[in-house]
Amino acid sequence: MTASQAVGDEPGAARSVAIIMDGNGRWAAGRGLSVAEGHREGARALRRTVEAAIDLDVESLAVYAFSTENWARPPDEVESIMELLDETIERELPDLAKQGVRTRFVGRRDRIPDSLREKMSTLETETASNTRLLLWIAFDYGSRAELVEAVRRLVDEGVRPQDVSEAAVSERLYAPELPDPDLVIRTSGEQRISNFLLWQSAYSELVFTDTLWPDFGEAELRAALEEYARRQRRFGAR
Ligand code: IPE
Ligand code: IPE
Ligand code: MG
Repeated sequence: MTASQAVGDEPGAARSVAIIMDGNGRWAAGRGLSVAEGHREGARALRRTVEAAIDLDVESLAVYAFSTENWARPPDEVESIMELLDETIERELPDLAKQGVRTRFVGRRDRIPDSLREKMSTLETETASNTRLLLWIAFDYGSRAELVEAVRRLVDEGVRPQDVSEAAVSERLYAPELPDPDLVIRTSGEQRISNFLLWQSAYSELVFTDTLWPDFGEAELRAALEEYARRQRRFGAR
């Protein structure tokens, strides 16, 4: 935050957006489809939304795809999500890379199937020089696990208590370069954070929409950005 942003500024355009992509299961149930079909339609919505974000001049988009708690779902659902990420890396993300999207994954890597983990890091390497849009896919991500990991690193490195600062913690998060979201959107009518970017969203504006994630797209993203532009951010100042 710069000094000029500090005092009751109109926020203007959101440059950094995060989305909790929720509602795939209800979308599928409402149509008599399997939950896997719901997630598949959710992947289509992600592609649409990334393209809309490019058009709307968003610089950074972080999306919550699979939480540390989502492992508690039935094994066949978890498997369908792993397969879908694999397919998305193979088919969708290379197309988005051609449009200038740099993709990075945020979260634990140690519980993901080996072949998927390799594809994730290959895509990260291949898109590293793209600058049009930064796409962060939070996968096996949980903020509490992220913060525990950061604390573990501080201790491991023998950082002295007096040197523990906000910057020292930030630097040890999964992706220190991930900008704090200006705006966090959650779809599907739920009004909670569900362990997403707790540290990074300390001063984010929150927008909740009843739209189920598979129905989300350009119009909904535009509406959320317009809502954001009407907010007044204070960051604790007058
Ligand atoms: C979000 O949709 C996707 C993941 C959490 C992986 P849900 O699957 O949570 O959809 P609902 O909440 O059951 O409708
Ligand atoms: C949050 O959605 C996680 C993702 C969107 C990946 P959930 O559906 O898991 O959250 P809860 O259980 O409703 O809080
Ligand atoms: Mg849900």
